[in-house]
Amino acid sequence: MEIFDTLIDSIAEHGYGIADDFLDASEVAVLSQTLRNRYIAGIFKNAGVGQGAEHQVHTQIRGDHVLWLEENTTQPEEQLFFEKINTLRQYLNQTCYLGLRDFEFHYALYPVGTFYKRHLDRFRHDSRRKMSVICYLNEAWQPTDGGELVIYLPENQSLKVSPTAGRLVCFEADKLEHEVLPAIRERMSITGWLRTGA
Ligand code: OGA
Ligand code: MN
Repeated sequence: MEIFDTLIDSIAEHGYGIADDFLDASEVAVLSQTLRNRYIAGIFKNAGVGQGAEHQVHTQIRGDHVLWLEENTTQPEEQLFFEKINTLRQYLNQTCYLGLRDFEFHYALYPVGTFYKRHLDRFRHDSRRKMSVICYLNEAWQPTDGGELVIYLPENQSLKVSPTAGRLVCFEADKLEHEVLPAIRERMSITGWLRTGA
């Protein structure tokens, strides 16, 4: 699994990794079209903060709209995405012994001007989310389009990642704080978590 080697070395060393060609251009084209069709159908929800009864929508914290993917989807492009994610999950288990059992993913669309303030991907009463995984679907994203992911690292270091098409970012969900800077253009991704059993 050559494409995962640099990603996994980086995760082991720094707690995050980036793979630029996780999806190829045609996969990005089909998935972004599927995302857009569903968005236009009006079935996305305003994303919230907190889980279960604690769930609340706070647009001053996050402004994205999300739609969960079905694990037993019949859409070929989503099946292929899940196959690739499963390969990554198994490879992470073999190399880093993370005990990742399953995953959950949603489409995310950030309308122009929206953002997600600095946070950790962890619920108060549920620690199964071990690795955060984001895969970007933005063709021809320019530096002036904003919307970077900022990952906060130890010793006041931080890293800005541009959400370019096909790029996958993976980081320790319960350790690395991060934020999404305001998107100047509509910003699309598939975002999710690889989870342990408990
Ligand atoms: C999230 C998140 C980052 C991104 O959805 O929790 O932090 O780059 N997303 O979309
Ligand atoms: Mn997050």
